[in-house]
Amino acid sequence: MQHFTSAQDIKDWSLLWQKVQQVKDDSQGRKALGAGKAMCLIFLNASLRTRLSTQRAAMNIGLDTVVFDINQGGWQLEMADGTVMNGSKAEHVKEAAAVIGSYYDLIGIRAFAQLKDRDEDYQETIVQQFKKYAGVPIISLESSVRHPLQSLTDLITIEEYRKKECPKVVLSWAPHPRALPQAVANSFLEWMPHTDYEVVLTHPAGYELANEFTQEIRTTTNQREALQGADFVYVKNWSSYQEYGQVLRTDDEWIINKDKMQLTNNAHFMHCLPVRRNVVVADQVIDSSNSLVIPQAAHRVTAAQTVLELLLDHA
Ligand code: CP
Repeated sequence: MQHFTSAQDIKDWSLLWQKVQQVKDDSQGRKALGAGKAMCLIFLNASLRTRLSTQRAAMNIGLDTVVFDINQGGWQLEMADGTVMNGSKAEHVKEAAAVIGSYYDLIGIRAFAQLKDRDEDYQETIVQQFKKYAGVPIISLESSVRHPLQSLTDLITIEEYRKKECPKVVLSWAPHPRALPQAVANSFLEWMPHTDYEVVLTHPAGYELANEFTQEIRTTTNQREALQGADFVYVKNWSSYQEYGQVLRTDDEWIINKDKMQLTNNAHFMHCLPVRRNVVVADQVIDSSNSLVIPQAAHRVTAAQTVLELLLDHA
């Protein structure tokens, strides 16, 4: 694996799952792998899980890590080629990526969607520019379109808790007061064709995701119908893709509550966190024994370590 920015970067799925198992069985057994190497984690946005789990994963394999909150101490980066840089942006990504790549063996970068210009966001410019100019493996810590470390985590969690051959996995939209990116939902759906799950996507009209992520996915605007017989209920808000970045509704009709979970096959509840209690999900659901949010978040370390080991194994 050269980079880890989407499911397309996984060339050997069997090797990926072997590595996941190795990490789960023995997370501390390969300290020499990262010895003498270092990784820079660049954040343009806030984070709890991604920031800490990726550092912990690096620690497990002896890899040094530096976290760079580029908006608080770095120069503002220009992304576009050919720009006359006479405004507020002092450094071009061509130099910044190449310089950081000369200091570090791996670079992770988080750059959320701006939710203003869909075409611009869906080019994943920052991640692509780092891939082009850094000269070292790039790990997406959530781009404007995808969150692959979260998706790998989600699959690891479902694999651990599945009780049947073809579990029904429902991805449901839920309300949220603020406009959130589509990255987690896009990415989750992008990884689903690599599983043997029965996948159903449900959201209100107006919240359709980009066709490239949904074309192989059964979709309904009837949330209750989708939840019938579900084994896993993954809940996430996203803003509109069609009316790009807009919040079209904030009523509580789509909240996941106990009544809705009773339609399922005693389903596990999943969410990537952070989550707004009693907006996205009722306390009774997230606090129930069916909630996987903590083991799911814990597997962020498993996922990050798997990716780091695969990248370093092939460096
Ligand atoms: N799920 C997730 O990526 O969490 P953070 O935004 O806290 O990193």
